Order: sequence, then structure tokens, then C-alpha cells
Amino acid sequence: MSENHNSTALKMDSVSKSFGGFQALRSVSFCCQEAEVHGLVGENGAGKTTLVKILAGEYQPDKGDVFLRGEKLNFKNPRQAKEKGISLIHQESTLIPYLNAAENLFLGKEPRSRLGFIDSTTLYQRAKEVLDQLNIALELEAVVARLTVAQRQLLEIAKSLQENPQILIMDEPTAALQRNEIDTLFSLIKRIKRQGKRVIFISHRLEEVFEIADRITVLRNGEAVLTVSSEQITKDRLIEAIIGRRLEKFFPPKAKKKGKELIRIEDLTRSQNIRNVNLVLREGEMLGIAGLEGQGQHSLLRTLFGADLSAERKGEVKVKGRSINLAHPKYTVRVGFGFVSDDRHTEGLVLNLSVEDNISLPGLYKRARLGFIKSRIEKETVEKGIKALSIKAPSRNSPVKYLSGGNQQKVVLAKWLAADTDVFIFDEPTRGVDIGTRAEIYRIMRDLANEGKAIIISSRDLDEVIGMSDRIAVIHKGKIIKEFESGELSQEETLDLITRVPREEKEKQLKKSTGR
Ligand SMILES: Nc1ncnc2c1ncn2[C@@H]1O[C@H](COP(=O)(O)OP(=O)(O)OP(=O)(O)O)[C@@H](O)[C@H]1O
Ligand SMILES: [Mg+2]
Repeated sequence: MSENHNSTALKMDSVSKSFGGFQALRSVSFCCQEAEVHGLVGENGAGKTTLVKILAGEYQPDKGDVFLRGEKLNFKNPRQAKEKGISLIHQESTLIPYLNAAENLFLGKEPRSRLGFIDSTTLYQRAKEVLDQLNIALELEAVVARLTVAQRQLLEIAKSLQENPQILIMDEPTAALQRNEIDTLFSLIKRIKRQGKRVIFISHRLEEVFEIADRITVLRNGEAVLTVSSEQITKDRLIEAIIGRRLEKFFPPKAKKKGKELIRIEDLTRSQNIRNVNLVLREGEMLGIAGLEGQGQHSLLRTLFGADLSAERKGEVKVKGRSINLAHPKYTVRVGFGFVSDDRHTEGLVLNLSVEDNISLPGLYKRARLGFIKSRIEKETVEKGIKALSIKAPSRNSPVKYLSGGNQQKVVLAKWLAADTDVFIFDEPTRGVDIGTRAEIYRIMRDLANEGKAIIISSRDLDEVIGMSDRIAVIHKGKIIKEFESGELSQEETLDLITRVPREEKEKQLKKSTGR
């Protein structure tokens, strides 16, 4: 090999790894140079997380070697990798839900008084410094379970950065973030790079990869099929390398005709964050809820599904003219609602149950009332879901916790597809899903609409909302401030609309506070 070890910060040489009989990595060679941001891309289940977990000492390779500046590494555990300055920000949260943000930030490294007690004053002071420096706004005393997915992600990033790593590995750090947070993250990454450190960046959003990565490596079915400088490859070529074929259409055509009124939301109000929402949804229609993060969109969708158990509510939701009970999902599921939550780990899946059992959960509930469980038909439905979404799992009996992140998301989707659902409520339906499967999910969503189902979708990815919806409602501070048919406004105009009101409010506030 002609590679000079001094300039190769981190190198993997013909690494293989299998789980049981399943080969996740096949003789993969990979290297990350000094002061480089290296993008790692590939389909769900391609082996990205497995690769970086080996670098971070969480898995040991079956074959092959890892070198850091020429020194052969033999990590037995993550602590040894950390000592060498390798830090991994995980795809799924590793925070302790019942501890607060500050406590999580310094977990195991809490500042202590001379007597050995945790010095809380210093803890909170230091936590505040760390977050301020990173431009992350978070309530330090908030218990992590109460933070949003995005806030948890930012906290994970902060936690990793304050260890001052030499090699920072980020496994889909942006999946839950919106644009301004991604901007903050990217300026952090650039700063780290200027210090000569290396970053390995995994994402399914290829625009991001092009924006931040110097070089890109593509994994396909556990093999490294390509490493190129990001300037030397087009997006179409990259997609081809990832999925092994060209991607023709990304978003399917919109609804041709709309059916009868199916759902009517009247004056729906919930504590502070949903205010007098009025919306109508027809059969065959896809309604997008668009807004900056934190405007009440998640809460609106959860309330609709009856998943907002504690809240006080006013107003009504009617299905075909009949008012429905929003006190619990069991009522909404009974009238045909299905919900893909943005938090798959706590709400979408039972991690220890198998793929099959997860998919048949909602159906199980319905069918159990008829007195029999898991019929042949049900097994066929599960099989169909696995095929339709190309879910990659060692088998349908494997616990979902062993599936790659994107494949877990697909199981959540398959679950509602199998459940005879009439109204699909999608909150971030394609988070962590690879680009080929995303196109496939969009097609399935449109087919459902064409069959007369009604769909509500909310996403941080505005392209997705605009690309998919027939009608778009813009939400701001819990209120629907505008509603329009897709096609009436361009992408820029929609974006402008979403950001204008908050921007104007901010300017007004600024004027007030500076007295001008
Ligand atoms: N601990 C494990 N036990 C069994 N199989 C595993 C385990 N970890 C990973 N796998 C399997 O190895 C394959 C690669 O998984 P990996 O998580 O590396 O994919 P990925 O590229 O990160 O995908 P994604 O984009 O969905 O996150 C998957 O098919 C997964 O089911
Ligand atoms: Mg992964």
C-alpha cells in the first residue's frame, strides 16, 4: 500500500464482522485523513453503524485490522477507544432518561467536592458553559425524558464534544434536527476540522453530505464500493452507487381527485400549544403540516391520535360526521387511525419483540377481540409488509433491537400498513430511511391515498412535505396561519411563509428591546 501512515489518521484494513450467520461487513477497507470530514453513506443495513462501532471499540472485528497513525489498535471496549480520542455519537439515544440534561452531560465525570460529593454548583455552571459555547439552548434541569428528539440529539453532540475527541464519529446526527440546528452543527464540525481533527459523518440526506464532507465512502451490502472526493461525484452518481441503480422518480404524482370529507377538526385546542385548529381532510388526500420546529405540530398529531393522555382538550374531531374520543389511542385505532411517531424507540416499537410481533401489534388488538390470534392471514400480512418495504432483518423472528435504525423505522410503517388503517398520521415518516426506500415509502403513501385513505404528514424535511402533500397547512405557535393547495406556492414562497412570521416577531421584539 502506498498510503503514508502519518497522513492517514485512521485506517481500517480488510475488516469483516458477522452477527450469528449474518455478514454485516465484508473485508472493508476505509481510511480517514487528518483534518478531514469523511462522509459515510449507504442503504439501511449496509453496515455503517457496525463499521463505526468497531472504530469506537464497541464491537471487535472478526477479521482485519484498525490502525491509528500506523499504530495497530485492539480495542476491547469503548473506554479504550475514548482514551485514544475516538468518540462516537450514537444513532439512537444513549442518554439516561430520568437524569436531567446537566447530569447527563457529565455522567461519570461529575465535578466533586473535596469530600467526594457531587459539586452541583460547578456541575450546572460547567454545563451552561458547554452549551453556551456550542450555541445550544436547553433547560439544564429538564429531565431528558421530557426533551424533544432534537434536543436529545443536541445534548448527545455536546456530551461528546466536551470530551474533546481527536476523531469524532457522528452516526446520523442530523436525522432529528432542523435546518438552523444543522447549520449550528456544521459550523461546529468545520471548527473541529480547522483544529486538524477528523470527523466521520453518517447521513441519508445526501445534500448534507455534499455540503460538509471532503470525501465520501459508500457501503453496499457490507462492502465498501466507492471512496471519492465529494467534488468529483454528482448526486445522481452517488445515488447509483448507494442503491445500485438509478432513481427515476422521487416524489410520485399528486392526487388527481379527492373524495368525500372524512375528517373534520373543529376548534381543537390543547393547553398552550394547539390553538383553535380547524382542518378538513378528504378521502384520498394528503395534508401536510409545515412549520418551524416546536410550533405544536407534533402535539397536534399526537392529540389527533389520542396519544396525548394528560392534556386538557377543547374542540372536536369528527370522522364521517361522528365525533371521536381522543382520550386514548385504543379509541382512535378502532375507528381506523394509525400513527407513525417521530420517536420510534419509545412509542413506535417494542424493542425486545420480534419483527413479526411488532408488525402484528395493532392488528392483534383488533383481531384478539374476535377471539383468535396470529392467523395464517396475519402471517401473510406480515410477510407482505416485510417485502413491500424491503425490511432487512436476519429473520422475522429477530428482536427489532438488532435491526439497523432505518429498518426499525420501516417496521413501524409496516405495522400500520398491516392494520387496516384508514387515516395515517405520519410524524417524520422517513427519519433515518435511506434514499431508495424513501422513494418506495412515498410511492406506498400515494398508493394508499389513491385507494381513498387519508394522510396527514409532518416533517422537518420541508422538501418532503411540499413534495408529497396535496394541501399544506402552515402552523405557527399552535395556530394554523395559512392553508393552501400544493402548487399554489413555490418551494421558496412556502419556506418564506414558514419563516416570515417568526422572523417578523423577532424583529419586533428586538426593536422593542433596543427602543428603536
Ligand atoms: N447486534 C446485532 N445482532 C444481529 N444483527 C445485527 C446487529 N447489529 C447489526 N446487525 C445487522 O447488521 C446489518 C448492518 O447493520 P448496521 O446497523 O450497521 O446498518 P446501517 O448501515 O447503520 O443502517 P441504517 O442506515 O439503517 O442505520 C443489519 O442487517 C443489522 O440487522
Ligand atoms: Mg445505522
